[in-house]
Amino acid sequence: MFRKAFLTLAALLVTAYIPAFAQNIIAPTPPMGWNSWNHFASRVTDADVRAAADALVSSGMRDAGYIYVNIDDTWQGERDASGVIHANSKFPDMKALADYVHSKGLKIGIYSSPGPKTCAGYAGSYGHEEQDAKTYADWGMDYLKYDLCSFREILRKEAPGDPQKAFAMQRAAYEKMHKALLATGRPIVYSLCQYGLNDVWKWGADVGGNLWRTTGDINDTYTRMAQIGFSQAGLSKYAGPGHWNDPDMLEIGNGGMTEDQYRTHMTLWVILAAPLLAGNDLSRMSPSTLALLTNREVIAVDQDPLGKQGDRVSALGLSEIWAKPLSGRAKAVALFNRADTPTSITFRLRDVGFEDNAKLRDLWRGREVTATGGAYTVTVPAYGAVLLKVTK
Ligand code: GLA
Repeated sequence: MFRKAFLTLAALLVTAYIPAFAQNIIAPTPPMGWNSWNHFASRVTDADVRAAADALVSSGMRDAGYIYVNIDDTWQGERDASGVIHANSKFPDMKALADYVHSKGLKIGIYSSPGPKTCAGYAGSYGHEEQDAKTYADWGMDYLKYDLCSFREILRKEAPGDPQKAFAMQRAAYEKMHKALLATGRPIVYSLCQYGLNDVWKWGADVGGNLWRTTGDINDTYTRMAQIGFSQAGLSKYAGPGHWNDPDMLEIGNGGMTEDQYRTHMTLWVILAAPLLAGNDLSRMSPSTLALLTNREVIAVDQDPLGKQGDRVSALGLSEIWAKPLSGRAKAVALFNRADTPTSITFRLRDVGFEDNAKLRDLWRGREVTATGGAYTVTVPAYGAVLLKVTK
């Protein structure tokens, strides 16, 4: 009796006082890596995934924290007579591929759907959840993105006009795969992808999600990226170590935005403590793309061990100020210019909880800057961003 109470108390104290990163939880900081979809889409092959793994190492991205090599949709082949899923001819040997990725000091991820078909029309896990989780674990998978796709048709058929029932079914489907992943005994990051339906940020963690998409798909345009990124205001309280809001993968380096627009993309994502999954062809990267993806001081904002997501502080016309609490009582403060001309933005230290004598560092430029009279004014390029770290 006493022993049990003592052990329960001890467990509680451990959870409360040991920081998340030391508790051995899955995804203590937002997952970082690469995903095949944004650049390769349905064309991705085994060779592309190997090339991505090679490039993560040779470019220095792995050492900057990009660890997961995630295969998205279109790897699936047929199920055999016993229902076991096999990869299609683009992926001749998944286990060998996973071994290769692991041999580079990286982790590997895979993709499926709770529905019978994935979004690209390949085999989903419906009715085969335990079997598929076991297959992924046997292959050595470390990450699963689980995409609603055709499960929506099941909901339409089985819960027509009954949103409550449809919601319960959706939750149950995500929970089912979570249990199946747990049963494998392998730590597998669980990424929910259902485009933010039913305020997933309120229940994603309860069904075992380590991250959940909060919106529909990103694409490689400033308009879409900004629409998604700036719409994340107000969601910070739902994120924390082991459970993150996911505003979708990065488009940096895919060619559809200017350098300043991509800088806004990266700045916004790190302020949001978003998962950083590069979505470009890593084997052909410009120095500018690599610099945007691997600035250590910028990544440190995203990966800060406190695990707090940032939020909007103010918006004045097309100028926005966002802040993210960091460990050591510091804060990251981002100044965004959403206008098509350079704009001067002034930021007051007191507006983010600091005294006038706080220290400022411009993280993209890697140099200290100074506030005058408790305010810092800087000209931010069109569609650009400035990222500052403020310390007492
Ligand atoms: C959905 C997801 C995307 C991608 C595709 C693959 O659209 O939101 O991220 O995984 O499916 O078909």
